[in-house]
This record gives sequence, structure tokens and C-alpha cells, in this order.
Amino acid sequence: MGDTALILLAVALVIGPLTVLWQRKAPFVRWQRAFGVWFALMATIYGYLVWDGWARWSVRRLLGFEDLSKMSVEQMILTDPGFGLANLIGIVALFWALILAAISSDRPVHALGQRQWKHVQRYAYVVFYLVSPHAGYFLFLHYELSLHSLVSQTEVPDLNWFRFWFLAIAALIFTLQ
Ligand code: HEM
Repeated sequence: MGDTALILLAVALVIGPLTVLWQRKAPFVRWQRAFGVWFALMATIYGYLVWDGWARWSVRRLLGFEDLSKMSVEQMILTDPGFGLANLIGIVALFWALILAAISSDRPVHALGQRQWKHVQRYAYVVFYLVSPHAGYFLFLHYELSLHSLVSQTEVPDLNWFRFWFLAIAALIFTLQ
């Protein structure tokens, strides 16, 4: 789901520069809004699934703490700070994505004025540059052999196929911007 959310965001971001390059605005702008809103929706559902499935409704677990009571450790221990930091970055990105989705209709354009509205919408790039280290962490670092994976005896999974697509997408967005 994270992959799908990233692709939806990338498509929304690519449409902007393409309309400038092709000088044909009308049909694309509607698509841009639709992709942006679907991205925010997908990211929200997926954020909820992480909260429910990974963090199991615990802020501490979301931040990388673990319950090691099986090893007779009473307090929760910070075992994976990278996980916590990546999740925090994801949450800030989601926060901005929701604000942008909320103003992705005609009414806010009139209320804010075309210039202000466009200015705020450019924060979609900020969302992308927040999501990039977040996704980069999970695609390139989180599942590598580490002290954490050794202690918790988790197996290192096969290379994630999305890694190289992610790099290609990030390079494309950066170049087009
Ligand atoms: C704002 C939009 C977001 C995007 C575009 C995004 C994107 C991604 C991507 C591309 C991955 C790698 C998926 C893979 O392993 O193939 C990922 C993994 C992950 N993200 Fe996000 N993320 C977002 C928000 C969040 C939020 C808000 C949280 C936490 C509440 C979060 C937590 C995670 C976790 C735990 C993983 C590892 C999941 C796994 O390996 O299956 N993400 N994310």
C-alpha cells in the first residue's frame, strides 16, 4: 500500500510539469486533483493499518520501542529508533497530504485566491521529499541484517523489487521539478 500511495503521489506531481511542457492544461488539472486525493485517501488507510497492525495502538511501539518482558525486562526498550523516526516522518507527510487534499476543490481556490492556493499546493513537493527518506529507509535499511534483526532472530527478506522503481520515480520527480 505504501508503494501504491507513492505512485499516486508521483503521478499527481508529474502532471504539473507536463502541462507546462505540453502547454495543454485543461484535461490534466482534473486528473492531478483526483490523483492527489486518492493518494491522501490511500495514505490514510495505510497509516491506519500500520497503527493497528504494527504499532498495535501504542505510540511507543510506533516510535520503535519493544516489550521485552519475555526477557525479564520490565520497561519497554527503544530497540529500533530508525523505525520510529521513519514513522514520524511518514506522519508529518500524511498530515500535509490531508491538508492539501482538503483544499483540492473549487471552493478553497475561490476562498484563498488562485495565487495563494497554487502556492500552498506546491507543498505537495514537500510531501514527496518527506516521503522519500521514509520510503528509502524501509526499502534500503529496515530489513537489512542488523543488531535488531540478530537479537529478534528475524530473517532478512529478499531484495524488495520496488527499490529501483522508487529511485527512478524520485529521479524523475526531481528532474521534472
Ligand atoms: C504519507 C504517505 C506515505 C507514503 C507515500 C509511504 C510510502 C511508503 C513506502 C513506499 C514504503 C515501502 C513499502 C515496501 O516495503 O515496499 C513504506 C513502508 C512503511 N511505511 Fe510508509 N508511507 C507513508 C506514510 C506512512 C505513515 C503515516 C506511517 C506510520 C504511521 C508509515 C509507516 C510505514 C511502515 C511501518 C512501513 C514498513 C511496511 C512494510 O515493510 O510492509 N508510512 N511507506
